[in-house]
Amino acid sequence: MSEEFTGIRACMFDAYGTLFDVHAPVAAVAAKIGENADAVSRLWRQKQLEYTWLRSLMREHAVFWQVTGEALDYALAAYGIEDRDLREELMDLYMMVDAYDDARQTLTELKAAGFMTGILSNGSPGMLNAAVKSSGLKEHLDYVLSIEDVGIYKPDPRVYELVLECPGITAPQDVCFVSSNTWDAQAAAHFGFQVARINRFGLADENIPGRPKRLLNSLEELPAALSTKN
Ligand code: LAC
Repeated sequence: MSEEFTGIRACMFDAYGTLFDVHAPVAAVAAKIGENADAVSRLWRQKQLEYTWLRSLMREHAVFWQVTGEALDYALAAYGIEDRDLREELMDLYMMVDAYDDARQTLTELKAAGFMTGILSNGSPGMLNAAVKSSGLKEHLDYVLSIEDVGIYKPDPRVYELVLECPGITAPQDVCFVSSNTWDAQAAAHFGFQVARINRFGLADENIPGRPKRLLNSLEELPAALSTKN
């Protein structure tokens, strides 16, 4: 899995798990949770994603903020944690979630190299705006797109189509889509984007359609991967 990118005009990033560290909120209060902190964080993330898929299939859309809270409630209950203050603290931390260390430098380099940059996320506009501001990424992003514009979650193709409404982007092949979520990376490739998967979690491809062109260890490797043949 190592094809060259060709003719890329814009880099569109998944937000949570790719630019923003979804495990930072629990890490910040790990001492209050104790030995189950990592497991709670992983279950929170897993349920958050499952609920987006289930709600999309059920045609019962709710914004990502609500889904995130409902997933957190599941994860806390699964580990016997009943603490309203801790729940509110975790949600506040999620609203202002930290970016990964490699995010800002990578976006800066991509913009300097002349690429348009943006986010395409399940996040509701309020969450995304808060996170891009608090993480300092806002000035490095041309577009911040939320699935709320179509009212269904990834990987519905209508979500990826939103990118084609951005000025200067006319076809899926113009776009390098970047995600550390296997299923998101593969659905985006299946849609027609050229995809880089950031292998933050050491996962193999899913057995679903669509394959990334490149598997990178970190965002830092992206500018060099894009500099060939562009
Ligand atoms: C997002 C989810 C997939 O940001 O993390 O769209």
